[in-house]
Amino acid sequence: MNVITTIETMRAYRKENWNSSIGFVPTMGYLHEGHMSMVERSTQENDLTVISIFVNPLQFGPDEDFDNYPRDLERDKRIAREYGADVIFHPSVEEMYPEKRTTSLQVIDRTDVLCGPARPGHFDGVATVVLKLLQIIQPEYMYLGQKDAQQIAVLEGVVSDFNIPVRIVPCPTVREKDGLAKSSRNVNLTPEERQEAPFLKESLQHAATMVKEGHWEPETIKKEMESILNENTSGIIDYREVLSYPYLKPATPEDKKWICAVAVYFEKARLIDNIIIELP
Ligand code: PAJ
Repeated sequence: MNVITTIETMRAYRKENWNSSIGFVPTMGYLHEGHMSMVERSTQENDLTVISIFVNPLQFGPDEDFDNYPRDLERDKRIAREYGADVIFHPSVEEMYPEKRTTSLQVIDRTDVLCGPARPGHFDGVATVVLKLLQIIQPEYMYLGQKDAQQIAVLEGVVSDFNIPVRIVPCPTVREKDGLAKSSRNVNLTPEERQEAPFLKESLQHAATMVKEGHWEPETIKKEMESILNENTSGIIDYREVLSYPYLKPATPEDKKWICAVAVYFEKARLIDNIIIELP
């Protein structure tokens, strides 16, 4: 497995392997089974798999956890090698953002809801870094986790708007045994919060059951999700939402898919989770 840290070397690798299909898994590292399930899938579907590990300062707000974001490159290298990645692309911040920029990318749809309002500029930062990574690595396929469903919705927009020749492959959320979605941020939960955290999934499961049983009133579903979170966690709810997917507009019975999504602030971690439901 190669560890590549410069754009020039990554480009050279792409050129040398022009005849191979590349699957790309963008990450911020501190790898867990959610990330690795996508690496595994990419190795099955492509000749070569590139995983990027880059904690992108542009997508963190001033009061967010950029400095505290967990990092352990040696451990990540071991895991990535074990799962069959061919390349880790691990550029420095200076390599990715060398000088004052001339342009900036602003996401203008799908960000007025869910994580958008609480994280101004976040999706602009995600869109910018992913657009840059796609230009550098030039993969055929990009694997993204459904855990960040809004991120997928935004990046599908970017790929379409800028005619990027890549296919996005949405991948299912990998969970702990008790239902908690795996996340690099779970290490920042206190033991008590860790016990409470599976109720995010519980509230979503309840929402899915309601829809299945024909209760199609978003307001009622939202209230029930809220009760489950308030009664079972010490966290503060950021949002509990029911929207159309991937458009992220108010849910109506005519939609093909709905997303039920929650975000909860715990003391040192903000957790998100969602479930996508196909309407009959
Ligand atoms: P990060 O949070 O490291 O996540 C990298 C990828 O792993 C994303 O596509 C995310 O949706 C996916 N992922 C996270 N937890 C998962 C889980 N439990 N099951 C399945 N997939 C999971 O998302 C980012 O980094 C960044 O915003 C990035 C796209 C790399 C841009 O900086």
